[in-house]
Amino acid sequence: MEVKQVRLIYFSPTGTTQKVLENIAKGMNCENIEHVNLTLPEGARQKIQTFSDELVIIGAPVYGGRLPADAINRFKQIKANKTMAIPIVVYGNREFEDALLELKNLAAELGFNPVADGAFIGEHSFATKDVPIANGRPDSLDIQKAIDFGAKIKEKITALKSCDAQMDLKIPGRFPYEGGVRSMVVSPVTREDICTVCGLCASVCPTEAISINGKVVTKTELCIRCSSCIKNCPTGARIWEDSAMKNIASWLNENCSIRKEPMLFGIDE
Ligand SMILES: Cc1cc2nc3c(=O)[nH]c(=O)nc-3n(C[C@H](O)[C@H](O)[C@H](O)COP(=O)(O)O)c2cc1C
Ligand code: SF4
Ligand code: SF4
Repeated sequence: MEVKQVRLIYFSPTGTTQKVLENIAKGMNCENIEHVNLTLPEGARQKIQTFSDELVIIGAPVYGGRLPADAINRFKQIKANKTMAIPIVVYGNREFEDALLELKNLAAELGFNPVADGAFIGEHSFATKDVPIANGRPDSLDIQKAIDFGAKIKEKITALKSCDAQMDLKIPGRFPYEGGVRSMVVSPVTREDICTVCGLCASVCPTEAISINGKVVTKTELCIRCSSCIKNCPTGARIWEDSAMKNIASWLNENCSIRKEPMLFGIDE
């Protein structure tokens, strides 16, 4: 089969998942690449139809060893018709636990035919310069792995006779799924002394938790702790002040510093 069009469908608050998907697509060397970025609130309202003559790379970060609830809700709007898919999760160098299995199964329920899967590493959402956790990842080595993975997937698909050829992908994970994010009603705070009220934080928040009313106002109960507002703030005015969040980041920094490598399924490495 020929790959005529590649669609990247993703939920990616801090952009690492998006970067991995873009580089897998780059390795496929296909001219038609379309982005369907479901991260922002309008993503939750978007209905998507995919077709049997295209390839979809679908990706989300790992939250608590599972898929983020907002990613699942957005992906459930997709209708696929035997569309070949590459489910990808990106995690912050702790573990991906059941998330990749969950994404592969969800993709199959939506009508996709998963042909290969991958778990990549991205800078942890809770990482800072002072408390690094996989900072700078995906780095050049990860990017090269993503490109090579894309090239191998293309080879695999080119050898297939039809898009519904059954794949037997063994993905690690438990079913019923376990884990999930700890329920915590917390959100980043704004340092008003250095905030310029530019509004960028509000425009990148996936859950509309932030509004601007002369100053930054956060509805803490809507916050999913994605840290997009922090990583996108041009003046460094958005920060985690909550002591439990700071403790989690310190624990990750101390216990998850040994570099993990991407795990790829469905291709010969
Ligand atoms: C609420 C929350 C929970 C997370 N849970 C995990 C986890 O269980 N394991 C892990 O390694 N990383 C975890 N992370 C880190 C993200 O998976 C990682 O930073 C990822 O690269 C973010 O993807 P994005 O840049 O596409 O948003 C978590 C992040 C958040 C915000
Ligand atoms: S992005 Fe930063 S500087 Fe801009 S409004 Fe938000 S907190 Fe203030
Ligand atoms: S307020 Fe919460 S949900 Fe919104 S961008 Fe910031 S961390 Fe993410």
